[in-house]
Amino acid sequence: MAIMAADTDRIQQQKAVRGNFTRKADAKQGVSPLYSATSSRSLTGDEEYIEIIGGKRLEGHVTISGAKNAAVAVIPGALLCEGICTINNLPMIRDVAVLDELMTMLGAVVTCDAENSSMTFDTRGVDCSIVVNELVQSMRASYYFMGAMLGRFGCCDVALPGGCNLGPRPIDQHIKGFQAMGAEIYIDDGVLRARTANGLHGADIYFDVSTVGGTINMMLAAVRAEGTTTLVNANKDPQVVDTANFLNTCGAQVRGAGTDIIKIRGVKRMHGCEYTIIPDPIEAGTFMIAAAGTRGDVYVENVIPAHLEAVSAKLIEMGAKVTEGDDWIRVQAEGELRAAHVKTLPHPGFLTDLQPPISVVLSTAKGTSVVSETIFEARYAYAAELMKMGANIVLEDRIAVIQGVEKLRGATLYATDLRAGAALMVSGLMAEGRTVIKNLEYIDRGYEHFEDKIRALGGDVERKG
Ligand code: EPU
Repeated sequence: MAIMAADTDRIQQQKAVRGNFTRKADAKQGVSPLYSATSSRSLTGDEEYIEIIGGKRLEGHVTISGAKNAAVAVIPGALLCEGICTINNLPMIRDVAVLDELMTMLGAVVTCDAENSSMTFDTRGVDCSIVVNELVQSMRASYYFMGAMLGRFGCCDVALPGGCNLGPRPIDQHIKGFQAMGAEIYIDDGVLRARTANGLHGADIYFDVSTVGGTINMMLAAVRAEGTTTLVNANKDPQVVDTANFLNTCGAQVRGAGTDIIKIRGVKRMHGCEYTIIPDPIEAGTFMIAAAGTRGDVYVENVIPAHLEAVSAKLIEMGAKVTEGDDWIRVQAEGELRAAHVKTLPHPGFLTDLQPPISVVLSTAKGTSVVSETIFEARYAYAAELMKMGANIVLEDRIAVIQGVEKLRGATLYATDLRAGAALMVSGLMAEGRTVIKNLEYIDRGYEHFEDKIRALGGDVERKG
């Protein structure tokens, strides 16, 4: 593809910005301990691992942290505001730490109050639209810099995103939308370069697939565009709604988020705000499933039960008891659970992110379960690890046929991605004997104080190495 004029200047500019990064990072107050706390390498250089002695029921209360996938959209969204945004209920996880670094690199002044799960982003001084470094490739959500930068500056250079290996993860719907809004897009050596003559304009955009990232990126790009943008077949995930609520709190005009048609009337300016991120439905679902898997009794607190209806319904179908209040869900299970069929779908369907842990529990349920993964084709990488524990799983393309076995036995397992890592933690809690889990960097990307929370529920879990 063609390289745009002035690219060399931009690379020089980026080098200057990197220089700036050190200065701004040094100036940062209250740097969060998450930079060191989430490293999966110990000081001795040995790889850390988690040891689980399985077979203990999880019992008690667990408080769910802020939603990772909303946080990773809202933080780049702060770039659109040219003000000070205080974001509360942020999970102190590695993906948030990476975004902190990227925002600082761009010229934002970031402060972090880790104890109160809050960060402040002063984006008034941001004057750069280039996000090209290795950190970008360490996470999927860096694609939100494309929408946010295009929205603020009418141009951007952003390295193509990385993230968990879940099979092909195209961003054609994002690119199609940016183009409809007037951006010229070039992909050059792994960098998406977007340019507009005079900023973006509103457009009618139809999504060929229901995409969380594509829907959010179009909202980010459209909130300051000239005119109205209509998104048809928009994704309805809670993180889409949360991002829209954040943008509206900053003065944007986004209507219809949570339905499949979203209308965005562009505004000239947006202001800073204070905003609280929703609780993480994936973390909450993971604890609900772990409670059932260990035949436990757990109150999952600080949740929005409506976000978890598919999980509650499936656990009830399997024989667990699920009760709920305004902001909590209690899961109780004992004895044998029944097999069930699970098909992953966009919200409000059963979340693909919870397919690995529910499959773990189905591996000891009575009967044959059929799990159908319709979102990410490589989301069964954990199955080979589970089979080391005695699970009986036959895989055929995107279908897993799981024949329930009486019990899982402890083994040494390798997390293959974030949600697979969480699922293997659940398998270790359910199994007889000792399980060792490696590749913790995946788990640290997305779960705050995971082992502490499990331990507080009675699980025998320790990080070692
Ligand atoms: N798709 C396309 N073209 C596009 C965009 C998506 O074909 O331009 C396809 C994907 O290949 C996939 C489907 O559409 O088959 C849905 O993808 P989506 O865009 O919704 O996924 P994403 O934005 O890449 C987010 C979460 C994932 C979560 C999925 C599905 C973030 C940063 N990531 O990914 O979370 O699994 O939505 O709900 O929000 C995780 O947290 O571990 C994680 C992988």
